[in-house]
Amino acid sequence: MAQPWLAVLGAQLHNLQNVTARVPLQRLVAVTGVSGSGKSTLARDVLLANVQAWVQQRSTKAGRDAMDAGKAPPLVGCTGLQGFETIDRVLEVDQTPIGKTPRSCPATYIGFWDTVRKLFAETLEAKARGYAAGRFSFNTGAGRCATCEGQGIRTIAMSFLPDVKVPCEACHGARFNPETLAVTWRGKSIGDVLQMEVDEAVAFFASMPAIAHPLQLLKDVGLGYLTLGQPSPTLSGGEAQRIKLVTELTKVRDEVGRRGQKAPHTFYVLDEPTVGLHMADVDKLIRVLHRLVDGGHSVVVIEHDLDVIAEADWVIDLGPEGGNAGGRIVAADTPEGVVQRGTHTGVALAPVLAR
Ligand SMILES: Nc1ncnc2c1ncn2[C@@H]1O[C@H](COP(=O)(O)OP(=O)(O)OP(=O)(O)O)[C@@H](O)[C@H]1O
Ligand SMILES: [Mg+2]
Ligand SMILES: [Zn+2]
Repeated sequence: MAQPWLAVLGAQLHNLQNVTARVPLQRLVAVTGVSGSGKSTLARDVLLANVQAWVQQRSTKAGRDAMDAGKAPPLVGCTGLQGFETIDRVLEVDQTPIGKTPRSCPATYIGFWDTVRKLFAETLEAKARGYAAGRFSFNTGAGRCATCEGQGIRTIAMSFLPDVKVPCEACHGARFNPETLAVTWRGKSIGDVLQMEVDEAVAFFASMPAIAHPLQLLKDVGLGYLTLGQPSPTLSGGEAQRIKLVTELTKVRDEVGRRGQKAPHTFYVLDEPTVGLHMADVDKLIRVLHRLVDGGHSVVVIEHDLDVIAEADWVIDLGPEGGNAGGRIVAADTPEGVVQRGTHTGVALAPVLAR
């Protein structure tokens, strides 16, 4: 029987005062506490870093053999690690941009753009013209607009001033050449699809589950207003983070779809994912986190948001204060249990749970 708890022993990095933390696996776990209490240090610098190193070593036969022979990776900031064996993969989902290149967009990042291109290549018009899926790429090949090389915009260098971006004069932002745009699927060209908002695209592709499902997930997390082709570098931090979560959710489904195969158990760490989110979007984020857990994954979320903490299966509350007056676990319990213990977090959480 697999150990259902992950444990880090004797954590002593930064302000952590010889902390032993136990994290239930395949649950939603909130790490809480006042600013400077040691949340990021415990969750990212100690837990994530060590589990990452150990899981990575265990992923190869040579690594497993070395570990069996007592050669585990050096521990960082703690004296022991237990219960990591069932974890196959470790991932931090943060708000950093999802790519610096303007050639990336939600559709290509999540990965359903290839299916859209194949759909266009299957049309009678495309077959008559001899266009394969590659023709419908805006990043390479003969189908994209040659003037802007498929970017839809042109960058004009100004001396002594920042570059100016203007719509491409040849394609007017459509990113493809007229011959490619002449091919349509249900009345829309590939350029129209790229400029479509997620909300509209969900309905438009309803008959194509491989495309509609990720689009529906984007809608579920409150990103229905994005266009499929919005350049990734222009997404906000919160948007980028939710797109990463959607990408993870599409994998949950793929894995459940492949019958008989066990989904790789992923250990997710998110540091304050609700920063910058509106209250309505917090609810959507909570639903995504629950879906990851329902898919058999483990989620650790560092949070100040009381609604997220209230929804957690387990809370690790650090404190009691910040800096050297913190760095200890003041409660490790269910949200109700933390309220009963009356820590700072418990006091703040009480009215939220009473609702
Ligand atoms: N690299 C570092 N070197 C020394 N001290 C550090 C380092 N990183 C953090 N600290 C200190 O350790 C303590 C805990 O920091 P940590 O970032 O874990 O807090 P936190 O609970 O995540 O706070 P916040 O809610 O503000 O993000 C703080 O007093 C901080 O100043
Ligand atoms: Mg922090
Ligand atoms: Zn162009």
